[in-house]
Amino acid sequence: VLIANTADDVARIAADNVLEGLANHGAGADPVLGLATGSSPLGLYRELARAVTEGRADFSRATGFALDEYIGIPDTHEQSYRQTLVNEVCQVIGLPAQQLHTPQGMASSLQAIEEAARNYDQGIAAAGGIHVQILGIGSNGHLGFNEPGSALRSRTRVKRLAAKTRQDNARFFDGIEHVPTHCVTQGLGTILEAGRLVLVATGEGKAETIAACVEGPLTASCPGSVLQLHPDAVLVLDEAAAAGL
Ligand code: GLP
Repeated sequence: VLIANTADDVARIAADNVLEGLANHGAGADPVLGLATGSSPLGLYRELARAVTEGRADFSRATGFALDEYIGIPDTHEQSYRQTLVNEVCQVIGLPAQQLHTPQGMASSLQAIEEAARNYDQGIAAAGGIHVQILGIGSNGHLGFNEPGSALRSRTRVKRLAAKTRQDNARFFDGIEHVPTHCVTQGLGTILEAGRLVLVATGEGKAETIAACVEGPLTASCPGSVLQLHPDAVLVLDEAAAAGL
């Protein structure tokens, strides 16, 4: 657990830990990055872009795997996680959009979405596994969209969004009725297979859930508590998010 003073420090330390993780877990290979949406990692992506500019990193041959995707909104919708990651990550760090994989959230049937979710994990394995998975955390402790109650060894699959998550994310849509009810998310077991996890959390709104993840019991009620099982998990926090520790 690394606690930094300013948002800039959080971003810089998190980016340094991503680059170190890529060097340790992906040495000699093209980077395979797990990517999170949300406001928490935006500074980290900005710092990775700086590293590219300074010649310390290169994502032009990298592969990206998104953590999650909404069901029922097309890839081109501005709130789809694919579109969000293209705008907020690919274009920022120079990762070609055709090398970004996102779970399939639109198909002719639920069965087709479920099958694509199973294939998603095979795609990660075929790429050699994720070297570094970037994470934020939901105010209810969710990782990706693994809501409380998610099985600790779950795989990429369809999930129903918690009411709290739909409320939290309603600010991005024209009212809560437009927020999708379901999603596809990497499972907790999938996330745990990444070489390194780098989680960023800032602000007092995350303090309680961070304390539960780090110092509470391992429990499906707090999906983020699975971080305790990972041998190379780095949490980068500001003072406010660390206040409950
Ligand atoms: C969404 C995403 C999560 C993310 C969370 C927190 O629900 N599915 O992956 O961690 O939001 O978002 P923020 O970083 O904006 O607080």
